[in-house]
Amino acid sequence: MQKKVYIESYGCQMNVSDSEVVASILAKDGYTPVKSAEEADLVLLNTCSIREKAEYTVLQRINEMNNLKARNRSLKVGVLGCMAERMREELLEKKRVVDLVVGPDAYRTLPELLEKVGTGQKAVNVLLSREETYAEIEPVRLDTNGVTAFVTIMRGCDNMCAFCVVPFTRGRERSRDPQTIVRECEQLVRDGYKEVTLLGQNVDSYKWRPAEEPRASGYGLRADDALPAARSPQPEAFDSLVDFADLLERVAIACPTLRIRYSTSHPKDMTDKVLAVMARYDNICKYIHLPVQSGSSEVLKRMNRGYDRAWYLQRIASIRRHMPDCAISTDIIAGYCGETDEDHQQTLSLINEAGYDMAFMFKYSERPKTLAARKYPDDVPDEVKGRRLQEIIDLQKEKSAARLRGYVGEVHEVLIEGVSKRSAEHLYGRNTQNSIVIVSHRHGGTELKPGDLVQARITGSTAGSLQGEVVDILNLQPVLA
Ligand code: 5AD
Ligand code: SF4
Repeated sequence: MQKKVYIESYGCQMNVSDSEVVASILAKDGYTPVKSAEEADLVLLNTCSIREKAEYTVLQRINEMNNLKARNRSLKVGVLGCMAERMREELLEKKRVVDLVVGPDAYRTLPELLEKVGTGQKAVNVLLSREETYAEIEPVRLDTNGVTAFVTIMRGCDNMCAFCVVPFTRGRERSRDPQTIVRECEQLVRDGYKEVTLLGQNVDSYKWRPAEEPRASGYGLRADDALPAARSPQPEAFDSLVDFADLLERVAIACPTLRIRYSTSHPKDMTDKVLAVMARYDNICKYIHLPVQSGSSEVLKRMNRGYDRAWYLQRIASIRRHMPDCAISTDIIAGYCGETDEDHQQTLSLINEAGYDMAFMFKYSERPKTLAARKYPDDVPDEVKGRRLQEIIDLQKEKSAARLRGYVGEVHEVLIEGVSKRSAEHLYGRNTQNSIVIVSHRHGGTELKPGDLVQARITGSTAGSLQGEVVDILNLQPVLA
C-alpha cells in the first residue's frame, strides 16, 4: 500500500530544496507526497534555527500535531533540518508527539529510521558529515509551479559569522560534483522548467577538485592503467579545479534556454571572475543577493564577517561596473551586540550609498553556542533594536520604491510564474532583476500561461512590484534532446 507523506518546509530556500531530496529518498521507500497534514501517514517538519522566532513558530506547529495524532492514531511525526540538529534531546524529551529527529546530513537513513518508528520506538540521527552532498539523488519537485526550481550546489558553511547558528546546524562546507549539477539542470530543461536557482550558504566558496587518480604503487599498477574511463575525453568531464565562476559558466552553456540565478553570495569571497561570467551570458540573471549585515566596520569586525564597509562598497562598485543594470539585494541585522547609535547611522548611510533594490531586515537574535553568544553580551535593549529596525525598514522602503520607479518606461524580459494573488485576470512573473512584474493574462488573441517568456513595457510601480504591458512573446524552445 502507498504510504503518504506531508513535508512542511520552514526557513530558507535550502530547506525547500532539501525537502525535495527527502521526498525522493522516501519515494523509493513507498511514500507519495500529499498536500496536507490531514491526509498523511507521516508528517515531516523541515525546520529553521536562524532566529529564535523561527524556532518558536515551529514549536507551536509541533504542538498542533497532538490534535492530528488524536484523530489519526497511526500518524507519525518527524522533525528534520536545523532544529533537529540543534535541539535533538529537547525535542525527544519534551515533545512526546515527535517520533523522529533527523539532521540535514542524515536523510539517506530515513528508511531505516522509519522502520524503527514503525515498531513504536523513537528514532534519531543527527550525525553531520564532511562529504554528504546528496549528489546523485534526483529530487522530487514539491509544490512546484513547473517554471522555477532550486538546485543545491554546496552544503554547510565554514565562515563562522559570530551571530550565525548555521555552521553548527549544517556542518562543514562541501561542494557537490559539478557533473551532477549540470545533469540536474539539463533534466529541469527536459521537464519544462525555465529557471533554476543554484543554492548554497556561500556559493562563492564553491570548489570542486576531481578525485585524485590512484598513484603508481608497488603492485605492478602504473598510473596509466588506473581508471581508463576517467582518462577518455568526455565533453562534459570536469578534469581540473572548478570554482563557482566555472560552474556558473558550464551551466549557462549547457542550458542556454534556462534562466539562471544563484544565492547566496558572500562579500568577502565574491570575485570579479563571477561578475565577468554573469555579464557574458544573457541567460544568467542580473541579480545578486549580497548580505551586508551592517554598515559599520566596527560591527562587521565583531560579526567576524571578514570585510569592512570600504571593501563592501568596492564590491558593489565592481558589480555596477560589470553590469550597470544589475539589481542588488541584502540582509541587514539591527541591534547586534555593542551596536551604538553611530554604528546604526552608518548602516543607514550605507543603505543610501548602495542603492539596493530590496532587503531582508532583522532584529539581532542571540543563538546558543555561537561566537557572539559566548563572547559578546546581547546588550542593545529590545525597544532600541525595534526602533533601529523600523528606521532601516522605512529607509529601504523608500529606496526600493525609487529603484522600481526608475524601471518605468523600460522594456523588460519577464518570465511568467503564475496567476496573481490579487486578480485572476493578471499573471505575475519576474524580470532579470528579480522584481515582480504584473501583466494582463492576455496578449492580443493569446492567453498567456506560466512558463511564457514575454517582453513587457513597464507602465507603473508600487513599493514592491511593477506593472507591465506585454509587447511580445519570446518563448524559446529547449535545445536539448
Ligand atoms: N539574528 C538575526 N538575524 C540573523 N541572521 C542570521 N543569524 C541571525 C541572528 N542570530 C540573518 C542574517 C543572514 C540571514 C539569512 O539571516 O542577516 O544573512
Ligand atoms: Fe551564517 Fe555567515 Fe555562513 Fe551565512 S555565511 S550561513 S551568515 S555563517
